Amino acid sequence: MLRNRLSRGGGRMQRPFSSPATSQGPSRIRSAQWCSKAAASDAPAVSMRAMVDARTVACKTTEPTGRTDKGIIDTQPPRGTRDFFPEDMRLRNWLFGEFAAVSSSFGFEQFDAPVLESEELFVRKAGEEITDQLYNFEDKGQRRVALRPELTPSLARLVLQRGRTLPLPAKWFAIGQCWRYERMTRGRRREHYQWNMDIVGVAGVEAEAELLAAIVLFFERVGLSKDDVGIKVSSRKVLQSVLVQYGIPPESFARVCVIVDKLDKLPREKVEEELRVLGVPPSTIDGVLSALSIRSLEELSRLLGPDSEAVADLSRLFQLAEGYGYKDWLVFDPSVVRGLAYYTGIVFEGFDREGKLRAICGGGRYDRLLGAFGGDNAPMAGFGFGDAVIVELLKEKGKLPAPPHRVDDVVVPLDMALRPAASGIAARLRRAGRSVDLVLENKKMKWAFKHAEKLNASRLVLVGASEWERGKVVVKDLAKFQQEEVPVEDLI
Ligand code: HAM
Repeated sequence: MLRNRLSRGGGRMQRPFSSPATSQGPSRIRSAQWCSKAAASDAPAVSMRAMVDARTVACKTTEPTGRTDKGIIDTQPPRGTRDFFPEDMRLRNWLFGEFAAVSSSFGFEQFDAPVLESEELFVRKAGEEITDQLYNFEDKGQRRVALRPELTPSLARLVLQRGRTLPLPAKWFAIGQCWRYERMTRGRRREHYQWNMDIVGVAGVEAEAELLAAIVLFFERVGLSKDDVGIKVSSRKVLQSVLVQYGIPPESFARVCVIVDKLDKLPREKVEEELRVLGVPPSTIDGVLSALSIRSLEELSRLLGPDSEAVADLSRLFQLAEGYGYKDWLVFDPSVVRGLAYYTGIVFEGFDREGKLRAICGGGRYDRLLGAFGGDNAPMAGFGFGDAVIVELLKEKGKLPAPPHRVDDVVVPLDMALRPAASGIAARLRRAGRSVDLVLENKKMKWAFKHAEKLNASRLVLVGASEWERGKVVVKDLAKFQQEEVPVEDLI
């Protein structure tokens, strides 16, 4: 028997992608739970099974974690991870379908890699949060391994594996589970799925412009507008130029970026302190932080001079964005540097205009990652887009769909002797490409009707003795409320 943490009174029953249990039709819902604690007591989304579990075990739990004195296991998944009930999977499949559809519409091909990778792929020395958050351990063969916290190093590994045989440019996408031992906030979890699109082999900002176009198309497809979301854009070359102006050695660049990225999470004094510890003089710190408060390309051009690569890249990117028609979605913001050490050029981050949530997505150019792995560098740019924040946002905006479970036909044998006949009918319909729920137990007609309604079936196919003797079945069209006898050979 299983135990549920609800029984301990705290009610940590969080659902990842939940739609109302009785969702009918593709309507948009407002109250679905995704992963927020606030929604944990939202009764309609708690499945019947979970409620029964909770009730049956209510008085049997005695320990805060692990097994109880009766040896009952905890029915909740590990903290920060999610179960996906069928209704959650419907929503997840919808979301991943959108990710995949956008990627395909840009001509990208899908790849995947193992969730378990060699630890060295993710250990970098720039002080990134992601390294501290690694789920890493030694396997039974004494190899240091880690659950991937992101997909980019795996992509780099695959690109290196193919080496010169990989036709460039390569445009690849992936949707994979990632693991980070994070402090949990709304939309941030210890396990999440990330949609990535990456372009290998294109040195110009045309690559970034294409990637941003894909993100905007995705937003539009799920019903978000430029008033709901925006994408902050900058270039790491801005910070790099400022550091060069102040004579800071290039080796410090990645570390400075990682520290500066904390500006929206930590008090300014804390960031200044970290920069001081790194050896950045106070006058440089002031210069860096004031450069990051610039809000126009004209101002940036005045600061960095007319030959600045950062200004040229950003101007070109905005020109291209105008051509694509998504310029109004972009916001130039040099304080966006991103927390990952490997970015080398344009960087960007999707955000909600109300500022309620953490970054929706993020990416940029990383032309030296292959080199860091001992290979020949190649220009690369891409983004990662998590599944959790976007669902929180869609929920907030009342735009989260509730995809229904549905089948085309429900096939019902009207007596035991007709089971083989009904199985044959189901097989025939399935071969014709229809989805069929075959009723496997003896059930009354009333039940069959309700069942078909619950499954949003379009037809009920009744296999009854008298019709069967005449080589026919009864087909009820549930939308039109019509029924007819159909010869088996005509049934599709
Ligand atoms: P990242 O900014 O670390 O970049 O993550 C990208 C996105 O993944 C975030 O904006 C967020 O949507 C989601 N995400 C990250 N961590 C979590 C978490 N703990 N819980 C929920 N969602 C999360 C990267 O990972 C880069 N590798 C992206 C990239 C691809 N750059 C180039 N290509």
